[in-house]
Amino acid sequence: MEITNEIKKFSKDRQTPFLIMDLDILKENYNRIKNIYEGIQVFYAVKANSNVRIIETLRDMGSSFDVASRGEIEKLLSLNISPKRMSFGNTIKKETHIAFAHEIGIEYFAVDSEMELKKIARNAPGSKVYGRIQTNSMDSDWPLSRKFGTDIDHVQELMIKAKEYGLIPFGVNFHVGSQTLNKFSWKQALLEVADIFITLKENHGIELQLINLGGGMPIQHTKPIPTVEEIGEIIKTTIEDNFSDFPNLKLFIEPGRSMVGNIGTLVSEVILRSNKQKQEWLFIDSGIFHGLFETIEDFRYEIIIPEKANEELSTFTLAGPTCDSIDIIYDEVELPESTTLGDLLFFKNAGAYTVEYATNFNGINPPDVYILQDVKEIANALKKIHTNTNLIEK
Ligand SMILES: Cc1ncc(COP(=O)(O)O)c(C=O)c1O
Repeated sequence: MEITNEIKKFSKDRQTPFLIMDLDILKENYNRIKNIYEGIQVFYAVKANSNVRIIETLRDMGSSFDVASRGEIEKLLSLNISPKRMSFGNTIKKETHIAFAHEIGIEYFAVDSEMELKKIARNAPGSKVYGRIQTNSMDSDWPLSRKFGTDIDHVQELMIKAKEYGLIPFGVNFHVGSQTLNKFSWKQALLEVADIFITLKENHGIELQLINLGGGMPIQHTKPIPTVEEIGEIIKTTIEDNFSDFPNLKLFIEPGRSMVGNIGTLVSEVILRSNKQKQEWLFIDSGIFHGLFETIEDFRYEIIIPEKANEELSTFTLAGPTCDSIDIIYDEVELPESTTLGDLLFFKNAGAYTVEYATNFNGINPPDVYILQDVKEIANALKKIHTNTNLIEK
């Protein structure tokens, strides 16, 4: 039987689009990240995918969590996760959320401006703060540089002021940009962090303890990527070579995409094909507002239609189902030439920043989520799609 038939059978009584997630891969990802550096503390960036099953699995494996708001904190509390395992990594926090975080016992807060520092000093006195440096994000597919972080002199000033305000200047963090393809981006950022550590120690008597490596590690889409282990090796040697004067160094990492990206396959159905403006259009039931938000920046997913894998390709414009003209996934994408109504498209490695961004726009529900371990009848078919081997099973 062709493997899509198995999945078509599965989806007959269910709505597309849906995301299927494999929790075994999640566990593997956690262990691989945890192993890059002895003693590293992993703070899963909840914003990538806050599905309860993901959080429970990581909770049980000992992970900590990077949170962006009170809503995420409350979700974790409802799952019996101690605030001691949370870090408030958003540099733009509502004052009431800071107060709430402090009241329940969250210790770590990110900062990249004076006003944020004052807000933390007012609402979370005595907390540990870490300053975020800006990175150029040039080698990332989803840059985070302009809005977040500041230059290294400013981070130094913030750490000095933190002490004056009765906070604990605890460390430095950065984010090289999400889906960073160049492993040396981590080295470049770490060298800047070393500068701050050394200047503060030598000139101001402030000994920082924490490097928070942020997120940014990539998952496989259409371009070559470095592995978690290769990035880990760069991090390890850069730290060994530059932080030997800081024996009490703590290392945090906040993986989002690299923790959950490759655990999920998004399945979406073609609901219309049409030829207009001399272009072939394919409309599917997922789109910018229903799981594929990151494609607004032309973020490229690998898309497969298993039973048509051997066909010639043709160029299509691929669009979503809503009445908004921004809901165009790709102006040009190569897909099997006969792709048409009823075909299922599989977006590989779509576990991060997909369902989490999805809306109810036009009264269309966000994609449903299934856990592979619960839907054994299609587990083998999906595993094959995931590994992209032997796609058509006779
Ligand atoms: C503070 C912070 N940490 C970690 C992450 C996760 O980044 P990534 O998904 O690239 O691993 C993000 C993403 O936006 C973030 O804002």
